Amino acid sequence: MAAVKQPWDMETVCVHAGVEPEPHTGAIMTPIFQTSTYVQKGPGQHLGYDYSRGGNPTRTALEQALAALEGARYGLSFASGLAAEQAIAQTLSPGDHVIVSDDVYGGTGRLFRRLFAQYGIEFEFLDLRDLDSLGRAVKDRTRVIWVESPTNPLLKINDIAKVAEIAHRAGARLVVDNTFCSPILQRPLALGADIVVHSTTKYIGGHSDLIGGALMLDHEALAEQLRFIQFAGGAVSSPFECFLLLRSIKTLALRMRKHSDNALAFARALEESGAFRQVIYPGLESHPQHALARSQMSGFSGIVSVYLSGGLPRVSRFLGRLRIFALAESLGGVESLVNHPELMTHASVPPELREKLGINAELLRFSVGVEHAADLIEDVRQALAD
Ligand SMILES: Cc1ncc(COP(=O)(O)O)c(C=O)c1O
Repeated sequence: MAAVKQPWDMETVCVHAGVEPEPHTGAIMTPIFQTSTYVQKGPGQHLGYDYSRGGNPTRTALEQALAALEGARYGLSFASGLAAEQAIAQTLSPGDHVIVSDDVYGGTGRLFRRLFAQYGIEFEFLDLRDLDSLGRAVKDRTRVIWVESPTNPLLKINDIAKVAEIAHRAGARLVVDNTFCSPILQRPLALGADIVVHSTTKYIGGHSDLIGGALMLDHEALAEQLRFIQFAGGAVSSPFECFLLLRSIKTLALRMRKHSDNALAFARALEESGAFRQVIYPGLESHPQHALARSQMSGFSGIVSVYLSGGLPRVSRFLGRLRIFALAESLGGVESLVNHPELMTHASVPPELREKLGINAELLRFSVGVEHAADLIEDVRQALAD
C-alpha cells in the first residue's frame, strides 16, 4: 500500500506517521502482532495477511511510518541495513556496473566486493566529490550510483542533486544511504535520489537495542520488485523490532535536534582545545564542504571524527580513560560511543584503500549522544591528560 504524503512538520509526522488506532480495541499504539500465520475463512480468503514473511500488521504500520518520514510513497522494512542494501543489489544482473562512493561503511563495501562481485556485477569505488571523474566513469551499463553523505567515517559530503543529474543522464539510479542524517536532517528523494537506504539500527532506532534496515522510494514498479525480493528472500524484521522502531520514531525529531546541538558544541570544543591533529564535522566552518553541507542538510547530525597524534599506543590510552563514551561499534543511539574504524567498523576495507582514504591508527569516530554536552567535553578533556 502506498503511504499518503502529509503536509505536516516532521515533528508531527514522527509522532503520528503510519499509526492508526487498532480497529478491534481502539488501542492507540500498534500492538505487536506476534504471529506467523493468519486463519483463512476459505482457501485464499483472508483479511489481507496470509503469512508473516509476506506481511504483518506491525510491519505495515512501520513501513507506512518509514515512507512518511522520507516523504516517499513506499517504505520497506528489513532485518538489517545490509539486508536492505542486499535487496537493491538483488535487482542487478551480471554485467551491470555500479559506482560506489569510496568512503562507505565497511560492511557495504564487503557486501559488494565479497558477495555480489562473484555474480559478475562490477563495483567501482570512487571519490564522488570529484564530479568530473564520476562523469568519466559512467558507462552504458552503469545501473546504480551509490552515495553516502556524510560518508562513514570521514564525513565527506557528496552533492546529492548533482550526482542525481549525472546518474539520470546515464539512465542509472541514485541510491543514497541516509543513515547518518536520518530523514529529519536530509531528504534525498527531494534532491533527486531514487532509493533511500537506512540502517534503522542507528538514529531511527536510536537506543542501541535492535538491528534493522529500510528502503524508501516513490517508483511503483521498483517498489514491487523490492517487495517481491523482501518476500521471496525473507530478510524481514520481526514484529517486536517493528514495534520498537515505531516507538523510537516518535522521538526521532527531538533526538536529532539534541544530537546535532551536542555534536556541534563537542566538535567546536575539541577543535578549540588544539589537542587533536584534525577535527572533522560538517557543521564546522573548517570542514572543506561546510557550505554544501549547509545547503543539503538541515542539521549536521551527531558524528564527529578526529585524528589524535601519537599512534595506536596513545589512542588506546585515550580510549581506555574515557568514562562516558563507550568503545563500541555502531552509532546513533542516545548514549555516546567511540569507534576505532581501522580496527573495528572498517577492518574489512582493503588495506591500500584504507591507507589512501586516511583510515589509520589515529582516526577515531565519536557518536555523540544526548547526554549533557559539557559532560561529554569534560570526558574527552580528562582522558587526554597524559
Ligand atoms: C552508513 C551505514 N549504512 C549501513 C550500515 C549497515 O547496517 P546494519 O548494521 O543495520 O546492517 C551501517 C552500519 O554500521 C552504516 O553505518
